[in-house]
Amino acid sequence: MKKLFACGLCGHIEFNGAPEKCLVCRSPKTAFDEKPDALKKPANPAALSDGDKKHIPVIVVAKQCGLIPDGSCTDVHVKVGQIEHVMKPDHYIRCIDYYVDDRFVSRVWLSPDTCKPAAGLHLAVKSGRVTAVETCNIHGAWMAEAEI
Ligand SMILES: [Fe+2]
Repeated sequence: MKKLFACGLCGHIEFNGAPEKCLVCRSPKTAFDEKPDALKKPANPAALSDGDKKHIPVIVVAKQCGLIPDGSCTDVHVKVGQIEHVMKPDHYIRCIDYYVDDRFVSRVWLSPDTCKPAAGLHLAVKSGRVTAVETCNIHGAWMAEAEI
């Protein structure tokens, strides 16, 4: 079980320890608290509710990249979620954070009405475990993982 540390300013989640500075908003280490409930979980993983399906990220790994076709790129697409989440000004997915082997890689910010609840990243790694954390402005942060 991962230990969760959340930045009190921007909500960024780090696994297994607080960084010297928040990698998203540059807040100092003191802004982080250990927060075991920082990530939402389905009440019953064996029988997901529609609410769960709208928030748990879906990760699709593509080893063949159309943009950088030399074989060095791994595309990681994230969609929220199995049932597409709404992107309205009062209810939307704020951002999707990417991690590889529990190390933060990038945050993709999403705007309601303009963006789909999805993101894509071109990674220069060919193996490892990718984690996606999405944050809904109402329903909190949800996680999914996949092997590259
Ligand atoms: Fe939501």
